[in-house]
Amino acid sequence: MMQLLENKTCIITGASRGIGQAIAKLFYNNGANVALCSRSLDGLGEGFEDLFVDTSRVFCSNIDVSQKDQCQVFVEAVKEKFGGIDVLINCAGIITREPTLELSQEIWQKVLDTNLNGTFYMSQLVFARYAEKENW
Ligand SMILES: NC(=O)c1ccc[n+]([C@@H]2O[C@H](COP(=O)([O-])OP(=O)(O)OC[C@H]3O[C@@H](n4cnc5c(N)ncnc54)[C@H](OP(=O)(O)O)[C@@H]3O)[C@@H](O)[C@H]2O)c1
Repeated sequence: MMQLLENKTCIITGASRGIGQAIAKLFYNNGANVALCSRSLDGLGEGFEDLFVDTSRVFCSNIDVSQKDQCQVFVEAVKEKFGGIDVLINCAGIITREPTLELSQEIWQKVLDTNLNGTFYMSQLVFARYAEKENW
């Protein structure tokens, strides 16, 4: 039986744990090729074979989405491996729980660089490639 996301390539950023990893599992289990990233591959490696048995449908990379050049390399590599990109889930993010008065400028900048700039970079790079997919 054809699965919902069969032959669809889905990028999920921040997929090493939490919401991103849950989405990655759901998409993979519905037949998608999944391209996953986070800064550290630690979480992606933990129990990885159990989560994603068919490794031909999985691509992992440790990148920092706040760095545009790293996003670019990742997106190109995904396109190279799977031939195109259908879905982007921007899940990489930093959660800060410091009260506003105690939040340093440095941490606040990191939040903006990751949650806003990272989402912008990935979206711009992927949207530019949606139309290029073969057999769209
Ligand atoms: N959990 C909630 O209740 C909730 C509610 C509303 C919104 N959100 C938002 O939803 C997103 C995911 O939440 P979550 O609870 O799943 O968070 P989480 O468990 O902390 O996971 C965050 C993921 O993002 C990755 N990440 C962080 N900075 C990154 C960077 N610069 N480049 C690439 N990957 C990066 C982390 O891996 P590395 O550390 O290895 O990079 C991790 O895989 C966040 O943006 C959060 O603000 C969460």
